[in-house]
Amino acid sequence: MNTTQRSGVLNFMHYRYFKLSSMLMVAAIVTYVLAPVGDEPYGGTWLGYVLGIVSALIVLLLLWYGIARRRTPRVRYQRPHPKNGGHKQAGSVQPDFSLRRWEDRGRHLAKDAWSHGGTLQGWLSSHIYLGASLIVLATLHTGFQFGWDVHTLSYVLMLLVIASGFYGMYAYLNYPRLITLNMGEETLDDLLHKIAELDELARIHALGLPDEVNALVLKARQETRLGGSLLRQLSGKQRNCPTISAARQILQLGSKYIKNEQPELMRDLYAVLLRKERLVLRARHEIKLNARLQFWRYLHVPLAVALLAALLAHVVAILFYW
Ligand code: HEM
Ligand code: HEM
Repeated sequence: MNTTQRSGVLNFMHYRYFKLSSMLMVAAIVTYVLAPVGDEPYGGTWLGYVLGIVSALIVLLLLWYGIARRRTPRVRYQRPHPKNGGHKQAGSVQPDFSLRRWEDRGRHLAKDAWSHGGTLQGWLSSHIYLGASLIVLATLHTGFQFGWDVHTLSYVLMLLVIASGFYGMYAYLNYPRLITLNMGEETLDDLLHKIAELDELARIHALGLPDEVNALVLKARQETRLGGSLLRQLSGKQRNCPTISAARQILQLGSKYIKNEQPELMRDLYAVLLRKERLVLRARHEIKLNARLQFWRYLHVPLAVALLAALLAHVVAILFYW
């Protein structure tokens, strides 16, 4: 296998699985249009059975991917030289530490199947193209007959698994690059460490300033949040972020305190808070991208298992009925 062949999941082996699934889909459409299967096509005609069985076999193959990817030895991701050696963030910005696992995992995923050796790439390539072909194969199997029953439930679950898979593919293709752009060689730990240092610096700068300013600095230190609920992680925002509003308010208060050396102190404090704001925004962006890179799996895999159960029920119901 040469370098070009190994380069991508989507063009694996000169689009081998794209061609295979295109052929399957074209064959299914042509047979559906031309084959003599009676007046009303449905799952119970000979073509219905063939398409149903082929679809079910593909689903089993796609489920098997979950096992194959665990069996294939991986290249473990190495963190780039953490500089703080597990430094504690005493009293500083509040990170949700479950994110750390996500961050590692996100970076690991970025280097996982998409750039892995041939075997796993081949599996994933077939997974994507064969998975997408189910939209045509299973739909033709149903003969467009839908109802409020377990048969249609399996079909809907299948479409949901496929939709989440498409989202995952989009995420894998785009987010790892954005993560690298945002973080470079730094880690979330590095950012948290720098934020804690800036919090301390801001506290020192604020000592010679009025209470009003100290209160803003303290609030920015104690109430700035990173991560949190899934929605907050996915949005990458904190409403009325105390760090951002402290920076804005200190800019406005600057003109109020013009006595002695206070304007200079205010300027320094403002500069520190601006630096902290930039780091907080970068950390939130990192958390957001990692959350978006991964949350879909928590839909894709359980829905795939639910699909298997519904499919079993579908087939058992059919066998029992017949
Ligand atoms: C991904 C796999 C499959 C999906 C998503 C699927 C989905 C469906 C759906 C939505 C229908 C239409 C139900 C209705 O009329 O309300 C149907 C009908 C049917 N399916 Fe499947 N099916 C799959 C696999 C299979 C397999 C493996 C078999 C056979 C072993 C099978 C046998 C049938 C039969 C016989 C019908 C006609 C039932 C009837 O109208 O009475 N299906 N299927
Ligand atoms: C009925 C259809 C499908 C089923 C049953 C299915 C099932 C699975 C399973 C079991 C995994 C392994 C998850 C894990 O080990 O954590 C997986 C991963 C994945 N699937 Fe699907 N999938 C389907 C369709 C699709 C489609 C259509 C796409 C893309 C267009 C897709 C994209 C992915 C991706 C990107 C992964 C993660 C790959 C990795 O990290 O190694 N899936 N899927």
